[in-house]
Amino acid sequence: MGNRGSAQRTVIAVARRAWRALGRLLRAWRGRPGPSLDVGLPQWAEVDKRRRAHIRRVAALVERWAEEMEVPKRERARWLRAVWLHDALRDARLPKGTTHGAAAADRAARQGESDAGVLDAVRYHSIGYAGWDAAGRMLYLADYLEPGRRGRRKTRARLAERVPRDPDRVLREVVKQQIRGRLRAGRTIHPLTLEFWNSLDGD
Ligand SMILES: [Fe+2]
Repeated sequence: MGNRGSAQRTVIAVARRAWRALGRLLRAWRGRPGPSLDVGLPQWAEVDKRRRAHIRRVAALVERWAEEMEVPKRERARWLRAVWLHDALRDARLPKGTTHGAAAADRAARQGESDAGVLDAVRYHSIGYAGWDAAGRMLYLADYLEPGRRGRRKTRARLAERVPRDPDRVLREVVKQQIRGRLRAGRTIHPLTLEFWNSLDGD
């Protein structure tokens, strides 16, 4: 009985895997993104065409990682909500001293988004945040590694490939590159970015 039960579970697991693989193949073949990409921008978004294309690419990358990492649907949906919200007010006129991430997080919260991890992902996506869960980390990674961004394309593509197998180390690498870039340009490092960097496990 026990054996039959475990054989049955194995068959179901294999069938599920095959079904997902088939879905991936079909989508790749049609050149279309997966269904959860349809989350889309909130109605209050103010973004131009280029920004919209960037957000779409970030969503596609996060979707691809989630699929490869076999992340449960609910968690995948959280990551994607963070993606679609993160730059929603990037092209809006905002009061001085308000970041577009904070503005979007506040607006999303007013509109009913109650997931603290998603809101923190949106609020701090430009600077990093030590208190992030996977939604914040994946958004941060994809925002930097999406293929449309200029500069270091090959290096970034290789890092993007590695994310599903080794997210923690890639995250460290990305934060390092961001900090290095700012230092080289003689810019300041936000205390939250440093705190984020210090919170990551070293080698
Ligand atoms: Fe972005």
